[in-house]
Amino acid sequence: MCGIVGYIGKDQNIKMGLDALRRLEYRGYDSAGAAWYNQNQKEIFCLKKTGRIDNLEKAISESNLNLTGNPFIFHTRWATHGGVTDQNAHPHFDCKKDIYLAHNGIIENYQELKEKLIKEGHQFVSQCDTEVVPHLIEKYFQGNLEEAVRKALKEIRGTYGIAVISKKDPGKIVAARLSSPLLLGINQNQVLVASDPAAVITHTRQIINLDDNEIAVLKPENFFILKEKPIVQIEWTQEEAQKGGYKHFMQKEIMEAPETIKNAIRGRLLPNEGQVRLGGLNTVSNKLREIDRISLIACGTASYAARVGEYMLEEYAGIPSEFDVASEFRYRKPVVDKKTAAIFISQSGETADTLGALREMKQKGILTIGITNEVGSTQSRETDAGIYTRSGPEIAVASTKALIGQLVTLAMLTVYLGRQRDMALVMGNRIVTELEKLPELANEVLKQGPEIEKLVEKYKDYNNFWFIGRKYNYPIALEGALKLKEISYLHAEGIAAGELKHGPLALVDENFPTVALCPSDSVYEKMVSHVQQIKARNGKVIAIATQGNEDIKKIADDVIYIPKTLEMLTPILSVIPLQFFAYYMAILRGCDVDKPRNLAKSVTVE
Ligand code: AGP
Repeated sequence: MCGIVGYIGKDQNIKMGLDALRRLEYRGYDSAGAAWYNQNQKEIFCLKKTGRIDNLEKAISESNLNLTGNPFIFHTRWATHGGVTDQNAHPHFDCKKDIYLAHNGIIENYQELKEKLIKEGHQFVSQCDTEVVPHLIEKYFQGNLEEAVRKALKEIRGTYGIAVISKKDPGKIVAARLSSPLLLGINQNQVLVASDPAAVITHTRQIINLDDNEIAVLKPENFFILKEKPIVQIEWTQEEAQKGGYKHFMQKEIMEAPETIKNAIRGRLLPNEGQVRLGGLNTVSNKLREIDRISLIACGTASYAARVGEYMLEEYAGIPSEFDVASEFRYRKPVVDKKTAAIFISQSGETADTLGALREMKQKGILTIGITNEVGSTQSRETDAGIYTRSGPEIAVASTKALIGQLVTLAMLTVYLGRQRDMALVMGNRIVTELEKLPELANEVLKQGPEIEKLVEKYKDYNNFWFIGRKYNYPIALEGALKLKEISYLHAEGIAAGELKHGPLALVDENFPTVALCPSDSVYEKMVSHVQQIKARNGKVIAIATQGNEDIKKIADDVIYIPKTLEMLTPILSVIPLQFFAYYMAILRGCDVDKPRNLAKSVTVE
């Protein structure tokens, strides 16, 4: 993890910065650097070296540079983009070497920014993503450093904690943060900025933690903080929100499953480390390490994602987890404590019941994490931290691709939390590698759309359906039933397959078909016996099974195949045929697919 130390004030000896930087050595790094402003020469000097801080200290001592002056900034780098070289170490600077900057975090869109800046005539000297930032500041600099920083940061996507100095506006350090922790250390006539309290504690115990989108301007005699209200950028183009050539929004959104998975995982998978990068959790990463229970809370389709998440987190992160629908959770007396984290899942981020449960947890001081699709939604602003699913606009009332995005995000969160605990690198790598394959696997399932349309013809005269599943696919059975009833107005019920013989089997006969989720997983044999129980009562069975399983054809009336994947990821594929089944049934029955009667897209009332 990189470390930042900056100082402005009465102490003119830059060696003080080295001592502060050494207190960040525990964070791990591969190079170190410093830049300082010398008032006499009105110049910024900069030295940076790979290896230990000792190498930097040696370079400073052996240089014939004037070692007095401030503001100064020091940095330890832990390479993410660009090899371990002196040029790639921080601080980075602009073309004219007027502006020097140290950065923690990742500039996700640095490639496109770099290409644009090079076209505008900027020269780059490193392979580091950070280097685009001083050039962007240079582009906007018209005499006021914080104004130039403010404009530059608007073009950046990613995470940052930065400290910037300039010889053209020398009496200050400008600091800013988005997801990467940054704090100010306040002492009379001197101000420090650092990525970690350890760097400032010998100078002051008065600190201010910067919040996301805040820009601080530090001067010897004072400081001030600009709060940037983030301009919420709706990334969706007009045509994206149109139907894109499909008959209905719902059809378009089912077909967007592969893109939805790609968007959810983009820039977040680290297969070699068996890890994921979830920048939105950086500020609560240490708190998440401490939790020993998780509550998952949501409504409707999102609640079925939550149920799948419960299985994932228990099996692969080893964290006791409990799901509940928000409308029930907030009126229960849930037993929670400071080591509980509450995860709220909502496509819209505006569902009243979910927000009610969120506020209930916040007033108990419980750590709240949000998973939502809508940037800037109420949920995203009120949770302590969160993860955007990036699924794009979901217009149809029936939620389809949003569920896919939620399930992928929960799988990534499982790796994130599991790897904080005893999930081995190889397991993390297996899940992450399988996630990378999912867009293509989803594509294979989508190709069966026409087959499923034909299958619906065969079942269009039935008025009642069971949906049955076990373990990871039990929530998907519930979701399949919800999809069918909410857009075709047919009676459909999802149950845990093991419950069949405890009553529901009484309803099974030739007029009451069943959709059975039977992927080749740890409970496949159990599912086969449930299918046989139904067949023994003349019930018809549509099985969702794993490609290559020929046996299932001997007992089920119809089979829809999905590709093999990890058991915990099967729901992401097995739900797609059920979405198609509901979609084509609703069309056959002349229902308003995108706007089913009595329902709203976002239930903002209790
Ligand atoms: C699902 O198809 C429904 N539209 C509904 O159950 C929906 O999932 C629920 O209202 C939750 O909405 P949210 O994800 O926006 O919170």
